[in-house]
Amino acid sequence: MKLTIAVDGPAGAGKSTIAKLIAERFNIMYINTGAMYRAVALFAMRRNIGSEDADGLIGMINSLEMHFDKNKLIVNGEDVSELIIQPEVSKKVSEYAAVKEVRQHLLKLQQDMSKKYSVIMDGRDIGTAVLEDAFIKFYLIASAEERALRRYRELMEKGIDVEFESILEDINKRDYTDSHRELNPLRKAADAIEIDSSKLSIEEVAEVMSEHIENKMKKYGMTVN
Ligand code: DC
Repeated sequence: MKLTIAVDGPAGAGKSTIAKLIAERFNIMYINTGAMYRAVALFAMRRNIGSEDADGLIGMINSLEMHFDKNKLIVNGEDVSELIIQPEVSKKVSEYAAVKEVRQHLLKLQQDMSKKYSVIMDGRDIGTAVLEDAFIKFYLIASAEERALRRYRELMEKGIDVEFESILEDINKRDYTDSHRELNPLRKAADAIEIDSSKLSIEEVAEVMSEHIENKMKKYGMTVN
């Protein structure tokens, strides 16, 4: 049986680092859906296609072949993993992620991936839309300050020079756009397990989640393939 794990929550709640740890532990595929929205934003910006140009976006998206290779996102043969985390893309991505046609296309791609592989997928609408029937769902939260601090450290470690205030502002703006958009806004699924990661380390959150997953797998006599 395919294992499907949904992880949602606001920007910087630690979703991707934690999801990677869990993917390794359970030997399943990690799908970073935020990276897919970021790739759409990157290519749209490169080609000067604005978020109001739905036709332009559809044409562009249809010309993109996206897949993950060991946590790297490859688009039309190019590894875009580092480019998509640049602040220019972070500032614009929510606008593109609010476009219906973009969401429909990526939702389908993500669902197709989950039919082929056992996955842990993180994003904003995984438990509520992409994997509504996920085996288990998590919703990670943390204060905006804590999340901004984590993003700040992550970017500085990668040698990307940023100001903390600007990251915090960006996080607050994105929280607002992501949770107020019309289509599949950020929301906790009724059956998701909520975990506040503010006071826990990444490893501790991964441990708590792994216990939930293992217990549920035992309960249902589930093995992964
Ligand atoms: O997780 P992230 O910060 O890399 O996500 C980038 C943006 O993409 C974020 O502003 C919200 C959007 N997103 C979304 O709308 N739905 C998803 N499933 C994942 C991300």
